[in-house]
Amino acid sequence: TPTTGLDLNNIQGDILGGMPKKTELYYFFQITNASDFRKHLIKFAPLVKTAAQVLQDRKKINDSKKHGGHGLIPMSGVNVSFSHLGFQKMGIDDSTLSLDDSDPFKLGQRVDAVQNLGDPTKPSAPEVDPLPNWEPEFLNDIHGIFLVAAESFATAQKKLKEVEGFFHVGKPEASINKVKLIVGNVRPGKEHAHEHFGFLDGISNPAVAGFDPVTLPGQGQVRPGIILTGHPGDEDGNGNPIQRESWAVDGSFLAFRYLFQKVPEFNEYLKQNPLNFGDLTPEEGSELLGARMVGRWKSGAPIDITPFKDDPELAKDPQRNNNFKFEDQLNSQFKCPFAAHIRKTNPRDDLESRNISVEPRRIIRRGIQFGPEVTDEEKECKQTKEERGLLFACYQSSIRRGFQFMQQSWANATNFPPFEQQPEVPGFDPLIGQGADRKMSGLDPNQPTRELSFPDFVVPRGGEYFFAPSIKALKETLGA
Ligand code: HEM
Repeated sequence: TPTTGLDLNNIQGDILGGMPKKTELYYFFQITNASDFRKHLIKFAPLVKTAAQVLQDRKKINDSKKHGGHGLIPMSGVNVSFSHLGFQKMGIDDSTLSLDDSDPFKLGQRVDAVQNLGDPTKPSAPEVDPLPNWEPEFLNDIHGIFLVAAESFATAQKKLKEVEGFFHVGKPEASINKVKLIVGNVRPGKEHAHEHFGFLDGISNPAVAGFDPVTLPGQGQVRPGIILTGHPGDEDGNGNPIQRESWAVDGSFLAFRYLFQKVPEFNEYLKQNPLNFGDLTPEEGSELLGARMVGRWKSGAPIDITPFKDDPELAKDPQRNNNFKFEDQLNSQFKCPFAAHIRKTNPRDDLESRNISVEPRRIIRRGIQFGPEVTDEEKECKQTKEERGLLFACYQSSIRRGFQFMQQSWANATNFPPFEQQPEVPGFDPLIGQGADRKMSGLDPNQPTRELSFPDFVVPRGGEYFFAPSIKALKETLGA
């Protein structure tokens, strides 16, 4: 690995490494008194968990496991990020964070959601500047977010109280106002690390040069500037390095999406549409349908390697579970549909074989689940009654090049990924693709042109774009 001189003491810990967590609190706030807030921020800044500290935390957890422990050592971490409105409120010129006026960071997600992401608008929306159909709190201006990660809810709660203390929350001299608190939790027992539809998550993230000591087979390595501002790879659309102000280096943009998942409906859809393939039973046909929507079995095993039978051993093996590129399937959906979630969001050789690099599009995902397990009542009536889903969070050095492009130009674009010779149209990403008449081809391996329509399984109910500044910026530029 080339050394790139990354200053791990200056980079927030959730970006590289990821704060270890069983629970994570997402605390959205408004700044009510900018000058007091900036004073409070100086005192708070030393609390912010760095990339270097995350490495130490992970080592502690691994050591505990080596010695027969469960790795659940009391441990917490806090990170903080600001929206464009937050920088404005603080009186900080953040012009080098946006390329132009239509930069999604500058627009804010509330506008971007309707203009570009395809989020449904409020039913009674006016035609001019309609609002997305979100939870009311996210229609407010949001200035910043605290992420509080911990091994337990009690530890996280305690840490959050400490954070609130720095900003005098609950007192007349408070400098912030809580807009919303969302509690994220990993799922219990065997579903640990699986998202609510049941699929293992967090398998494929790129290795970052200068940070990750090894790049696993098929994982792909990105230059540090694909994720971090001010490093090689932090470029505009024409390959020119973006000139960031000095305080704006060593940071990363955080795209947050509040995504509700309709789990009973998803399960019922699979049950009603089992694939008829070989000698599969209806149950196995339903499993295969789910696997072909995602591109992996629930275990995490990639269908490009094991298309018609789950392979839990492969799923668990980091040397093999990302080692595929669709290279012998470029114009074929036999093993994996073009529109499968992981093929849409990382098309690998669908682009690279055409000399289009996927590197600039790669993001680092750090989400967590929210909401309870499906209840017996929900199972019975096959309808969602409780709110649950994914607190989707990802880091990149450009929202436009990363998250926004992935959602708008890949997931929502029915003709992506590109293909030749075959008459079929890929269709929508079945999980996250947004738009009218959601359908995709390729689910049925025997009839690749056959299209299946589906309802919305994932519903966006809020979000915002933030910038996670360096520790130095928190202490010396934003803190004042
Ligand atoms: C991978 C589920 C939303 C981008 C995955 C995987 C699952 C999954 C099961 C495979 C595991 C892995 O590779 O880590 C979901 C669910 C979502 C959701 C249930 C919504 C509730 C999103 C969104 C985006 C996204 C909004 C970005 C627009 C990705 C990417 C990968 C991925 C980039 C890795 C692809 C690869 O490199 O193979 N997701 N996801 N996901 N997802 Fe999502």
